[in-house]
Amino acid sequence: MTHGAESPADSTHLRRVFGHLPTGVVIITGLGVDGELLGMTIGSFASISLDPPLAGFYISRASRTWPLMATRGDFCANVLAASQSDLCWRFAKDGADRSRFDGLDIGSSRNGSPVLPGAVATIDCRVQTVHQIGDHDLVVGAVTDLHVLDAALPSMVFFKGKTGDARIDS
Ligand SMILES: Cc1cc2nc3c(=O)[nH]c(=O)nc-3n(C[C@H](O)[C@H](O)[C@H](O)COP(=O)(O)O)c2cc1C
Repeated sequence: MTHGAESPADSTHLRRVFGHLPTGVVIITGLGVDGELLGMTIGSFASISLDPPLAGFYISRASRTWPLMATRGDFCANVLAASQSDLCWRFAKDGADRSRFDGLDIGSSRNGSPVLPGAVATIDCRVQTVHQIGDHDLVVGAVTDLHVLDAALPSMVFFKGKTGDARIDS
């Protein structure tokens, strides 16, 4: 079967249309089995359930970072500020790579995951279930700890392939 340019099976078209749906941006951080710092940029992170508190994200099965992080089972979603587009792109480059953290003054969340300087909020999770869906996995985590670190900072929005500012009423 062939797919035209307007087909849902055309991934360029699919990405372009979904690019019109703004998302927040987090860097999911965690530790490898030997304590190495791990992180990747994720736009699909969302709250899933209030009672019990659950949150999750969709991760490509091609991800090299996620399998390393999943072994421990704890992660932290660092909600990026609008000014952090350098981090957004740095943690989206190919390859699970310790150098993603180079030069950053890293803190630690309650579950031991790296906290990035300048993050607006952090949400610690413990992996509860992982569902295989298409070419991605839906990772569902139990929320174990969460904080707003700087309520005055506008969060990052990703829209039509670019980073921007979630300031609405200030
Ligand atoms: C704004 C933005 C949002 C992204 N959201 C996701 C996402 O939700 N799921 C995903 O699998 N990759 C997402 N990516 C792509 C990953 O960051 C990228 O594939 C990265 O290389 C993954 O790191 P890894 O290969 O070390 O696992 C996003 C990238 C950007 C720039």
